[in-house]
Amino acid sequence: MARKITVNMYMTLDGYGEFAKYPGSDVEEEEPNDFWKEMWISRYESVDTIVFGRRSYEGHAQVHGLSKRKPTDPKYMFDYSRFLEKCKLVVLSNTLKNAPWGNSRIMKGDLSELVKKLKGEPGKDIIVEGGPSLAHDFIRLRLADEYRILVMPVIFGRGPHYWGPMENQETLKLIGVKILTYGEMILHYESVR
Ligand SMILES: NC(=O)c1ccc[n+]([C@@H]2O[C@H](COP(=O)([O-])OP(=O)(O)OC[C@H]3O[C@@H](n4cnc5c(N)ncnc54)[C@H](OP(=O)(O)O)[C@@H]3O)[C@@H](O)[C@H]2O)c1
Repeated sequence: MARKITVNMYMTLDGYGEFAKYPGSDVEEEEPNDFWKEMWISRYESVDTIVFGRRSYEGHAQVHGLSKRKPTDPKYMFDYSRFLEKCKLVVLSNTLKNAPWGNSRIMKGDLSELVKKLKGEPGKDIIVEGGPSLAHDFIRLRLADEYRILVMPVIFGRGPHYWGPMENQETLKLIGVKILTYGEMILHYESVR
């Protein structure tokens, strides 16, 4: 079966790619909540490749590299860092000369061609982990098989945006909706081809 590409998106209700503050957003939990289970933990077995835009890659390396973990971090955060460092990490960039975090390689060029190449390589499923501009390219070019969208209960009004003009409509089938403790939702969609 072809490798499935899922775009992970984390947005405010108005589509901005910001981790906004709202009641509950700062609560640190010892055990993984439904967000972690749905977006990551349930997929550790089926995914082995993560695609990032250069800015998101640099941000993740700084925050989620195993060497950046603090002893007080809960176990599931260590597990997440270990998972990322076990995966093949693809960073899209025209400017990076090297990408030293984990098992990384730099790719560049026409996104449709890059996706064709990645899908042709042996491996498990693929997650596209931002940022918003790369996610938008996947949406615009209709390259995603699935979307998992965290919607935060905030109208933010500024910042990098996920949605934008498209030449052709993308039709989606709703696979599932999960409502989280602090009013967030996770929407899981499949592209209808
Ligand atoms: N709330 C959220 O979900 C979320 C998630 C992730 C990030 N963010 C925020 O969003 C910002 C980063 O997102 P972003 O959308 O601005 O950037 P991004 O998508 O992470 O990275 C954009 C960069 O990716 C490279 N790129 C993309 N497509 C390429 C291609 N086909 N070929 C070669 N290079 C390609 C380019 O890098 P070069 O410039 O090196 O060529 C481009 O400047 C940060 O502020 C971050 O905090 C928010």
